[in-house]
Amino acid sequence: MNYRQLGSTGLRVSELGFGAGIVAGLFMRGTAEDQLRAAQRAIELGVNHFDTAPLYGEGASEENLGRVLNAISSNVVVATKVEYYSEHFADFQGRTRKSIEASLRRLGRDYVDVLYLHNHIRFQEIEPNDGYESVTPNQVLRPGGIADALDRVRDDGLARHIGFTGTGDPAAVLEVLESGRFEVVQAYYSLLNPSGRIELPPSSPLHNFQQVISRGVAQDMGVVAIRVMSGGVLGGTAARQGPAGTTSSEAIHGLDRQQELSQVPALSFLSSDGGLDLSDAAIRFALSNSEISSALLGFSTVEQIEAAAGALTKGPLRESDLDRLAPLWASGFR
Ligand SMILES: NC(=O)c1ccc[n+]([C@@H]2O[C@H](COP(=O)([O-])OP(=O)(O)OC[C@H]3O[C@@H](n4cnc5c(N)ncnc54)[C@H](OP(=O)(O)O)[C@@H]3O)[C@@H](O)[C@H]2O)c1
Repeated sequence: MNYRQLGSTGLRVSELGFGAGIVAGLFMRGTAEDQLRAAQRAIELGVNHFDTAPLYGEGASEENLGRVLNAISSNVVVATKVEYYSEHFADFQGRTRKSIEASLRRLGRDYVDVLYLHNHIRFQEIEPNDGYESVTPNQVLRPGGIADALDRVRDDGLARHIGFTGTGDPAAVLEVLESGRFEVVQAYYSLLNPSGRIELPPSSPLHNFQQVISRGVAQDMGVVAIRVMSGGVLGGTAARQGPAGTTSSEAIHGLDRQQELSQVPALSFLSSDGGLDLSDAAIRFALSNSEISSALLGFSTVEQIEAAAGALTKGPLRESDLDRLAPLWASGFR
């Protein structure tokens, strides 16, 4: 396993990170034994970066991850998040404090290494009682807003670093990114949509993440890639396996699971001409981008962790394969 600097945080994170989130679902619905085996095997293979959130199983992921990491007693980087619902909009500071305190209790830790804002960032305010879906740049950046509340928690030592999720309206995301208030961004990056780094032609119908990755790096931020397997779509089978059993976390703004599934056959040249396994190719593609510090993957099984670690040893994709991908991204796989 190789390790990379997480921006200017001083943290060194493994290229492969372990996402204890909704898609793979292992830390929400798996057995305690499978969770322990998975974390143990990941750590044996050199993974030192784990990511969770209160939202994942309403605290179950944090609790289960905390239990296994404390049982293994390993020195790893742990990140969690905070979600804001409309009822919290009048008191970001109170909400943030309560949320991180509850997360730390569930995780059994005194602090997390990174605390992320989980909500999408959009210009339009959500209606009251409309869930946690999005917050506006103004809600994040105004005095007394979310960034101030996260700073406070960091100043109080409950989180070492703060970050946000780079999804929503691209221009709203960039406004938050370019404010310089955050140290880390979680950004979508996959074979099906590399626009977090690569400039798409204006005619491309793909959701345009407007190079949020490169722009974050230009500001010395750490970049953590998410959706590297496009939520399992690039795992080589349309059917969910293991404890997954749900497709509920496909709600990244501008992306659609059915549409992504329909794009996969266009990648078949990677296996037929190049002899590559698609899931291997997805991981190698993400980590050949040196702007990414760590790629978080959801794992349903120990075998998937081993396969991902094996993929890393095979190096970047060939230039000839990348050359064939560019027109697919430009045309939106049509
Ligand atoms: N900040 C945010 O808002 C946000 C959003 C999304 C994700 N995340 C983070 O990123 C993590 C990853 O989630 P994701 O949504 O991005 O999912 P993902 O990693 O793109 O997809 C995970 C799925 O890929 C398949 N897979 C993983 N390794 C494989 C392998 N070696 N071979 C074949 N298939 C493999 C599994 O599918 P099956 O289960 O079907 O086998 C697994 O459930 C989350 O746990 C979370 O920590 C954060």
